[in-house]
Amino acid sequence: MRQNQRPRRLRGNMSLRQMVRETRIDSASLVYPVFVVEGTNKKEEISSMPGQYRYSIDRLLEEIKDLIDLGILSILLFGIPKEKDACGKEAYNDNGIIQRALVAIKKNYPQMYCITDICMCEYTSHGHCGILQGDRVDNDKTLIYLNKIALSHAKAGADMVAPSDMMDYRIASMRECLDQHGYEEIPIMSYAVKYASSFYGPFRDAADSAPAFGDRKSYQMDYHNALEGEKEALLDIEEGADIVMVKPALAYQDMIKRIKDISRVPVAAYSVSGEYAMVKAAAIKGWIDEEQMIGEMAVAAYRSGASIYITYFAKEIAKLIKEGRIG
Ligand code: PBG
Repeated sequence: MRQNQRPRRLRGNMSLRQMVRETRIDSASLVYPVFVVEGTNKKEEISSMPGQYRYSIDRLLEEIKDLIDLGILSILLFGIPKEKDACGKEAYNDNGIIQRALVAIKKNYPQMYCITDICMCEYTSHGHCGILQGDRVDNDKTLIYLNKIALSHAKAGADMVAPSDMMDYRIASMRECLDQHGYEEIPIMSYAVKYASSFYGPFRDAADSAPAFGDRKSYQMDYHNALEGEKEALLDIEEGADIVMVKPALAYQDMIKRIKDISRVPVAAYSVSGEYAMVKAAAIKGWIDEEQMIGEMAVAAYRSGASIYITYFAKEIAKLIKEGRIG
């Protein structure tokens, strides 16, 4: 039987398989999310995310050293404040948990690239991502607060800010505010295509940020929609976003690809807490090969078009890359 093309010819040997790989990844594109709490000497495991912790600042510094040793260059910081109120004032307190964490990290490990999540839900007593007007989140009033948070993070040493609230027009408003205060060099990574998703469940345990009433469907996107995701991404780019993110990642590979195809800025994919929890739970049961699955999930996001991958598995992926098992 004569066949010109025999696809198996390029799969016959490990060196050859590596030579013809279409997707290559390296640890420099990984971002590791971390949770910071008040106090000292704290490293509390998050029950629905085994292997992930809430760190006090002193213990976070130890973790950062490990990350650097593994070749992970950047982190995404989430804070759990000592108190919450209707306007989330701890979020823009210049002496708040994230602000102090930034100062400490930059003092000890200036090379660690610090991205901060800009949102109010961890800081508000009602758990919504903005300022309430009755039981609605008031878009334009929220922008003022988001700007205060971003500015306060920038002052404390944030390298990049990442608004995750999904208010309209927040990128333009934040860009203008940062520029006015001399922070025109600080990039904005927009959580542009962020769906209202049950995959965030474990995160809300971790950050104690579940809404006290209702849900986030009036600001986060309906997962039936793809064009709307494109609209969100294009608007944010127009408004000045330097990087656009798709979130979650696993069930939204189509969106990673679509956003990659229509935009000329880097696309980030965020593999969220629920993705982590599912893999961990099945691994603990002994039902899956955890390492292989982590590798497959990561490569899929890059293959779909992500050039930045935000994941709680960053350390495991960095090890897999180092050992030449993926990438
Ligand atoms: C804050 C925020 C959330 C996540 C990132 N930033 C929670 C939410 O929107 O409810 C989710 C991250 C994860 O699940 O890993 N708004």
